Amino acid sequence: MNSEFAYQKCLSATCQSTFDLGQILTQCPHCGKLLDIQYEWDKLPVPKSLVNFETYWSQRNNPTRLSGVWRFHELLPFVPIEDVVTLGEGQTLLQCADSLGQICQHESGKLFLQYEGFNPSGSFKDNGMTAAFSHAKYVDAKIAACASTGNTSASLAMYSAVSRQMRSIIFIGSGKIAFGKLSQALDFGAMTIQIDGDFDDAMRQVQQVCPRLGIYLVNSVNPFRIEGQKTIMLRVLEALQWQVPDWIIVPGGNLGNSSSFGKMFGELLQLGLIDRAPRLAVINATGANPLYELYNQHEIRFDGGHYDRTRCDQYFANLNSAADTLASAIEINRPVNLAKCLRALEICDGVVEQVTDQEILDAKAQIGSHGMGCEPASAASFAGLKKLRSQQIIAPSDRVVCVLTGHQLKDPDATVAYHSGDAEMFAKKLGARGIESVRHANHPVRVANDTDAIVDVIQKQMKE
Ligand code: F0G
Repeated sequence: MNSEFAYQKCLSATCQSTFDLGQILTQCPHCGKLLDIQYEWDKLPVPKSLVNFETYWSQRNNPTRLSGVWRFHELLPFVPIEDVVTLGEGQTLLQCADSLGQICQHESGKLFLQYEGFNPSGSFKDNGMTAAFSHAKYVDAKIAACASTGNTSASLAMYSAVSRQMRSIIFIGSGKIAFGKLSQALDFGAMTIQIDGDFDDAMRQVQQVCPRLGIYLVNSVNPFRIEGQKTIMLRVLEALQWQVPDWIIVPGGNLGNSSSFGKMFGELLQLGLIDRAPRLAVINATGANPLYELYNQHEIRFDGGHYDRTRCDQYFANLNSAADTLASAIEINRPVNLAKCLRALEICDGVVEQVTDQEILDAKAQIGSHGMGCEPASAASFAGLKKLRSQQIIAPSDRVVCVLTGHQLKDPDATVAYHSGDAEMFAKKLGARGIESVRHANHPVRVANDTDAIVDVIQKQMKE
């Protein structure tokens, strides 16, 4: 480990305790707050310009240069490059999406989608998991666990199966995980603990069980996860030829991703590698909107690390309903990274919005018809853009990047229920959850098993 020049530090402005990288911690042992990885940049070989990273493109036969995470090792140098655990994560894509831009009267060439679903396990989580596994290797951990709405567990199970480094245990809530994700964890051989409760219950349990059994926790309270996820923003900058966009829009659940984006931009500013941060928009689902409420209604701000934790604790103590959204990946009421996300919002002059399940599913169908598609939670980013455009918070000329966090095939149930045109399926899966319309549906056409009838139907459809 590069423990000489990197360390763990408590996020609290009043505590600021520091700890060696070799300690397995997911909160400050003194005050219970989150931990951050900090670097003594002046003693480390940081590139003078972001363009320097391009020299690694020609070294793609080396797995650590192929990785879209470790190719930026100099900006997450907590582990020597030769010791990282990588599965070629981060081969993702930034795509210009003019046809979607038109929907919200956005200027051509100004809206981009960052497809994180192209990671090996199909979501952005692999960016963080490779970093957590690299730290776990250093501390010689033998068993890893996480609570999950599905994607973290799929990623953990995959890294565990491929690297053979650790056994994996996943904690999930009952009926709260999309089958695409559950099938991955089961197929990869993870021990699957299904709790009689939701994600927030599973998260609380895994945090209690891990220290008791000496298990390495890979949820995003693990500060090394956040280090890996920082690189999503580096790849966005790289694809924009190192120009900083005006806005990054990301769905908010446990708030690890937004936290890591803010940390990255804060560090790039500190290192003089960019001259301004983009603005950040974090989008909650209305059925799981603690960040939206705390930020907009209770006006909680990071305040340089002095955020009002007592008021946040009171808010959570008074929450008496469980999170409820069809975007199961972000069905979270007690986000563990709240403080770090508040810091990100401070660094990036951020805003927080909320979108309904109807808005999420409509946006998802529009993203799908544009091209590569995503799972419901990911569509919160485009649904959020439409809302922020209508409020004129985002201007038509702003350069905007919506992060699509998970692959389209993660949650096919929601997609099929939206498009199928099957009234019974709609009523059961969507109608019962408050969805009223499927205005962007692409219904299959039912035809008899008869060639003439099929030809006739196709000709009619082609004319429409
Ligand atoms: N999008 C997808 C597809 C996710 O799986 C998640 C989180 C989020 C967005 C929210 O990201 O937590 O960093 O704010 N999924 C976690 C899981 C909670 O267990 O897979 P966040």
